[in-house]
Amino acid sequence: MKLVYLDNAATSFPKPPQVTEGMVYFMDHVGANPGRSGHPLAQEAGRIVQAARDGLARLFNIDNPSRISFAMNVTEALNTVFNGYLNPGDHVVTTAMEHNSVMRPLVYLQEKGDITLDIASCDRKGFLDVDALKRLLQKNTRLMVLNHASNVCGTLQDVAAVRRAIGDIPLLLDTAQTAGAYPIDVKALGIDFLAFTGHKGLMGPQGTGGLYVREGIDLRPLKRGGTGSQSENLHQPDFMPDALEAGTQNNVGIAGLGAAVAFILKEGVDKIRRHEQALTKALLDGIYNIQNITIYGPLNPAQQVATVSITFDSTLSEDARGSLGCGAINLEWFNDGVPIGEAEGRLSGQYNILVRVGLHCAPVAHKTIGTFPDGTVRLSMGYFNTLEDIDLAIEAIRRIANAQYP
Ligand SMILES: Cc1ncc(COP(=O)(O)O)c(C=O)c1O
Repeated sequence: MKLVYLDNAATSFPKPPQVTEGMVYFMDHVGANPGRSGHPLAQEAGRIVQAARDGLARLFNIDNPSRISFAMNVTEALNTVFNGYLNPGDHVVTTAMEHNSVMRPLVYLQEKGDITLDIASCDRKGFLDVDALKRLLQKNTRLMVLNHASNVCGTLQDVAAVRRAIGDIPLLLDTAQTAGAYPIDVKALGIDFLAFTGHKGLMGPQGTGGLYVREGIDLRPLKRGGTGSQSENLHQPDFMPDALEAGTQNNVGIAGLGAAVAFILKEGVDKIRRHEQALTKALLDGIYNIQNITIYGPLNPAQQVATVSITFDSTLSEDARGSLGCGAINLEWFNDGVPIGEAEGRLSGQYNILVRVGLHCAPVAHKTIGTFPDGTVRLSMGYFNTLEDIDLAIEAIRRIANAQYP
């Protein structure tokens, strides 16, 4: 039976072959530490890391690639901003669709008494209420943190509208679910901080990610240490990217990430987006009329990334599904159908379809769409999924919803 991987929101798989090739090349033929020694292998390592930085700069329309520092993942990049930019007394606004990578560090700082925090509400489909956001802004609001697309139900936020609403308050965009899969232009959108992870839509290896910091903003580093530059200086260099890149980086991973970004640039983000939109449309069309399931999110491929959440429970009326989506009116029946754990077991055990169920590290987002505390069954597609994969998933969902075994 064909294995169908629909867990790309957790991490994309498979990767383009160039990613493994780039990593093996680094391991077998380069191996040296970039920016440290001056010998040819160290220079070659430096060239590979720089090519990765340049590729990311092209992808996000960043003029100066040095404004991108590498990190372990988007979580580290986000923490770098929270710890390095915020000061006691600052006010921060975020949204009710954030991942715990945003929520936990911010709640920690709030409970410590360092910051005050407001969470802007979102509707049942996950869309931010921009007017509500405006009402939360204060004189001392120092940062707006926005999840570009929900890892729970795919909802894409209107970054331009948020930028207009917040005026010149700095904007930190969590692009975990959009980088590589959806066009992002930091200049056009007025993004001050862009946090990305390398292993999802960017198609690189796990343990890679990074942070873009707009020119003119200085951050206190999360870590201090060797950089290969200004060795006589007992203070961390104050220039990017060295300011934020203490210690030897995951250069093997960065070699893979660079190859992944080169692949994305060659294919074109628009082509990737079109394919993922076609997969989303096929899935939504295929499951829309299945009895006994509820679909969450925008129910519109143009307004979401290729992630769809469902529960196996009582059917919404046609009207309600079209207008509300997000299971907005059937919460009282939430536990009636197939429990999500059983659904996952059947999808993977009987149909070889790999998905993720539960809260997806985003409990507040599930409260927003009405699926807390049980969560949802999440199907997340990637560039290497095919329409055949989607047909197999639709048939499996239909059988589970109709209580057919297998
Ligand atoms: C929106 C969002 N933010 C942050 C993260 C954390 O990503 P990582 O584990 O790569 O740091 C994820 C991962 O699921 C995510 O979807």
